[in-house]
Amino acid sequence: MRKVLVLTLLCSSLAVAQQYTYTKEGELMLPKDYRKWVFLSSGLGMTYNQNATPNGNPPFENVFVNPVAYLWFIKTGTWPDKTIMILEARASESRISINKDGRVQTNLVAIEVHVKDSARGGWAFYGFHNGGERGTLFPKTADCYSCHEQNGATDTTFVQFYPTLIEAAKKNGTYKDTGH
Ligand code: HEC
Repeated sequence: MRKVLVLTLLCSSLAVAQQYTYTKEGELMLPKDYRKWVFLSSGLGMTYNQNATPNGNPPFENVFVNPVAYLWFIKTGTWPDKTIMILEARASESRISINKDGRVQTNLVAIEVHVKDSARGGWAFYGFHNGGERGTLFPKTADCYSCHEQNGATDTTFVQFYPTLIEAAKKNGTYKDTGH
């Protein structure tokens, strides 16, 4: 109970220490320090297309979340308001330097962000596709929302693919078994 109280205090101060800002036009500014946040997973060459053929050059998708939201999730199995998750896509290579097999990460390809902000209608997606610092909002009709809503194990996020979060969600009864 005390831990939850401490976390509640931590999270209410989060509004002040919000880890992102918007421009006047409503674009999201890319948080500069997201690489220091908590790392959740690296999907490699993931695809959602039934007829997909194997990709010889699959990209990595590294997922990060702001540290306070991570701590809160571990305790409660839920995401607090102002949670911000970053998906950083990087190209991959084999056979460079001493590497003879397997793949390593190389250039940044794209960044996509998922933000839970009750002041702006809840979860929203932003894309940073041209290396810019300003992310454009995806409209609510984009397939990002429907796929995440239907298939994300917890609160429209893909907790089923984030190994350190699965147990916390199950323990707190917030894990939706998507069966695939
Ligand atoms: C067909 C399903 C599907 C669609 C459509 C989709 N995603 Fe995702 N998304 C995923 C999966 C699966 C993951 C987990 C990735 C991993 O484990 O590497 C994910 C993870 C993410 C994450 C990391 C945080 C989280 O919510 O788990 C972000 C950010 C993200 N997607 C953004 C987007 C954006 C922006 C779009 C629309 C342009 C989009 N996604 C469309 C399936 C989808």
